[in-house]
Amino acid sequence: MKRLIVAIDGPAGAGKSTVAKLAAQRLGYTYIDTGAMYRAVAWQALNDRIEPDNESIARLAHKIDLKLSYADGKTEVLVNGKDITDAIRTPEVSRLVSKVAQVPALRDVMLKLQRNMAAQGGVVMDGRDIGTHVLPNADIKIFLTASISERAKRRWLELKARGYNIDLAELEAEIACRDKQDCERDIAPLIAATDAITIDTTKLTINDTVKKIIELCKERQTSVI
Ligand code: CDP
Ligand code: CDP
Repeated sequence: MKRLIVAIDGPAGAGKSTVAKLAAQRLGYTYIDTGAMYRAVAWQALNDRIEPDNESIARLAHKIDLKLSYADGKTEVLVNGKDITDAIRTPEVSRLVSKVAQVPALRDVMLKLQRNMAAQGGVVMDGRDIGTHVLPNADIKIFLTASISERAKRRWLELKARGYNIDLAELEAEIACRDKQDCERDIAPLIAATDAITIDTTKLTINDTVKKIIELCKERQTSVI
């Protein structure tokens, strides 16, 4: 059976990482969270008080020792040997990451790393530009979306469970601002690939969404045998 390359893109809070991880587990594939890679660079910039301008981030992109490991359904993010898996999920990193992710030299470094990681097949990769730029020949392309209020509510609940008490309206505005930056940047903006299948998860459960993706993979596998 061919080990497929599955690309999942979409805006913040659409459910990409949750369903991508579960789909990868069910298929016995590797899950690659490309957002975590950009978050790791933003975390390092904050940690080292590096200005998010093109030159400084390009320098950081070329020297950062970034490792993404995936085992037993869990992704670990290491920078210079330090485990920053949880540290990259703070609101501070979320507020900075889209600015950092606009830097062309950084996107270039990430693109190469991500293509290498997917080279063997048997991967589910999620992000913003996977179906359009990173893996334009992916076997399956999904564009996952949901209403902004639903996405903000989901993220709010997630942050609340982690001890953050954030104003819901403020969070919604921040997410909308990040989506705008991601959609309007010059290089590899967030947009559905012309051959992507769009799934609106506003009223879908996680399980239903995963089932749909697995069905699409099964159909695709039968057609490529
Ligand atoms: O989990 P959430 O949807 O909040 O974001 P993420 O997937 O962790 O991605 C964080 C940010 O990284 C995005 O808002 C984008 O600015 C950037 N990103 C990107 O530019 N390209 C990707 N392939 C993945 C993420
Ligand atoms: O990766 P992305 O930012 O697209 O979203 P996520 O981090 O996978 O999902 C954000 C939150 O929404 C998580 O807490 C998920 O459990 C939740 N979620 C949900 O409640 N219903 C869905 N259909 C998908 C995700």
